[in-house]
Amino acid sequence: MVDEKKIVVETHELTKIYGDGVGVRALDGVNLTIRAGEFVAVMGPSGSGKSTLLNLLGALDRPTSGACLVAGQDLGKVKDLDRFRSKTVGFVFQLHNLIPTLTALENVEIPLQEENMSDAARRARAAQLLTLVGFGDRLHFVPGQLSGGQRQRVAIARALANNPTLILADEPTGNLDSKSTDEIMDLLRQLNREHGTTFIVVTHNPAGARAADRIVTVRDGRVKRDE
Ligand SMILES: Nc1ncnc2c1ncn2[C@@H]1O[C@H](COP(=O)(O)OP(=O)(O)OP(=O)(O)O)[C@@H](O)[C@H]1O
Ligand SMILES: [Mg+2]
Repeated sequence: MVDEKKIVVETHELTKIYGDGVGVRALDGVNLTIRAGEFVAVMGPSGSGKSTLLNLLGALDRPTSGACLVAGQDLGKVKDLDRFRSKTVGFVFQLHNLIPTLTALENVEIPLQEENMSDAARRARAAQLLTLVGFGDRLHFVPGQLSGGQRQRVAIARALANNPTLILADEPTGNLDSKSTDEIMDLLRQLNREHGTTFIVVTHNPAGARAADRIVTVRDGRVKRDE
């Protein structure tokens, strides 16, 4: 059954070396296939290459060698990477990366700016996304007035705004207490189940691993276990 599902991510000998000459081999020949609707946890020690992998999958950085296909697009050949990023992937980072001077609502509206919709429709869509992620009613608060968990909900709503095929989350609960961690992981899992969005979540947390269909363990830039 699962084998018939669409492939969302495919990497071939994906390699990233930082620096010139004898640089840091952060990722070393990774071959990975991820199918539509999977919820994959990426684990591994600090410095093993997890963020490097996510950055390459999200076209935030380019590989030294190897190939990376996301939603059928070969990232080495995509002309407009900005467009790829805004249409195909959503990012959630450890430090939410919200704009501190904008309200929760305005932060979620940002990715919707490119859509051809009225201001009122954009505002309504952002509010709807915040409801979807269980954000509550602090729509007009700025990030500094929100808890860590609330900020991450805003970041998740923002990541969902353009209905991406793939959400890449790099330690989305890294700064949260254990209760908020469980809540955010439950939310990601629920979004995955209800909307079929594919998730790749870097986590050090057992709750993250429990939520996953599959755990990919990275060590020294290589996939050591995939189960
Ligand atoms: N911009 C960079 N320039 C040079 N080296 C880098 C750069 N980014 C990462 N590295 C190196 O690449 C290796 C992999 O780093 P990466 O950030 O992918 O690890 P990680 O698994 O995400 O670690 P952590 O769990 O601490 O976030 C490390 O040795 C790191 O020092
Ligand atoms: Mg990292």
